[in-house]
Amino acid sequence: MDPAAFKPQSLDRDAKVYVAGHRGLVGSAIWRKLESEGFTNLIGRTSTELDLKNRDDVFGFFSEEKPQYVVLAAAKVGGIMANNSYPVDFLSENLQIQVNTMDAALENDVERLLFLGSSCIYPKLAPQPLKEEYLLTGHLEPTNDAYAIAKIAGILQVQAVRRQYGKPWISAMPTNLYGPGDNFSPTGSHVMPALIRRYDEAVRDGTETVVNWGTGSPLREFLHVDDMASACLFLLENYDGPEQVNVGVGSDVSIKELAETVASTVGYTGRMEWDASQPDGTPRKLMDVSKLAAAGWTASVSLEDGIRQTVDWFRDHRDSFRG
Ligand SMILES: NC(=O)c1ccc[n+]([C@@H]2O[C@H](COP(=O)([O-])OP(=O)(O)OC[C@H]3O[C@@H](n4cnc5c(N)ncnc54)[C@H](OP(=O)(O)O)[C@@H]3O)[C@@H](O)[C@H]2O)c1
Repeated sequence: MDPAAFKPQSLDRDAKVYVAGHRGLVGSAIWRKLESEGFTNLIGRTSTELDLKNRDDVFGFFSEEKPQYVVLAAAKVGGIMANNSYPVDFLSENLQIQVNTMDAALENDVERLLFLGSSCIYPKLAPQPLKEEYLLTGHLEPTNDAYAIAKIAGILQVQAVRRQYGKPWISAMPTNLYGPGDNFSPTGSHVMPALIRRYDEAVRDGTETVVNWGTGSPLREFLHVDDMASACLFLLENYDGPEQVNVGVGSDVSIKELAETVASTVGYTGRMEWDASQPDGTPRKLMDVSKLAAAGWTASVSLEDGIRQTVDWFRDHRDSFRG
């Protein structure tokens, strides 16, 4: 990555900022972060108010609101089970959301746009930790290849807009995220919220044995969503280059270690078993975050503190969370 791509350029706190997906895990954290940093003109729409799959509505929204900056955190997102079962939805809906939003943003002269992808864009067998330059160097993990291809298309669209129109739009690739506002649905959630829900329910129901999917051996990295939001603002104010930037903590844990930490945080004392007949997914997924670290940003929330905070949020919102 070109070091010259990191140049401070602060954003106008009074500019109109559209946070697409502002009720989601990432979008809501970005909204909180921007508010706390003094942004005064944030706009968001729920998917019911504005379906980003509807091209005409998206163009109508942009021409009426004319946002100056856009954070594209709206997407169809899910865990292994959902990705594996509904590849058409993950491919088609994400492509539509991205293409419509970026096309409308371009037509309406949006100055800065941040597109969010995911670590699943990197090849299944790429060397670890995953460097930005490994993009498009090998085959994808088949359980989420449809989602990954949509996200890769998004990165390419940002690069194409930069090349053809010279706009300083950028892309960031977060590792696995978690935190307040996560999706705790039993079928659509990622591993961290799924474990929190499962073990919290086991404590409440007095369950003696909890069975988890897979072997527990895959290694994964987890970034608190407040750290992610802070990295997004950092990039918008400091980075201007075509290459996507990895955002993570730079270290990983096994799913088994994660399950044990979650179990002890919620107070579960029963047995933990693993169903090895279920897919594990990629054996290891650790981001190389040295580019972002060299530019001056590192994560600050520890995994233990983040899990404790997320469990507390889950318990406070048990009756109102999604799913
Ligand atoms: N969660 C992770 O671990 C993770 C990791 C890496 C990357 N990311 C990336 O971060 C971004 C946000 O993920 P997230 O975890 O915040 O997902 P999320 O919690 O499921 O939120 C996604 C948001 O997108 C909105 N949305 C979905 N379909 C829409 C549509 N057709 N029209 C308008 N809005 C729509 C939803 O709006 P409503 O609530 O109004 O329906 C929702 O608030 C995604 O690009 C994802 O790839 C997430």
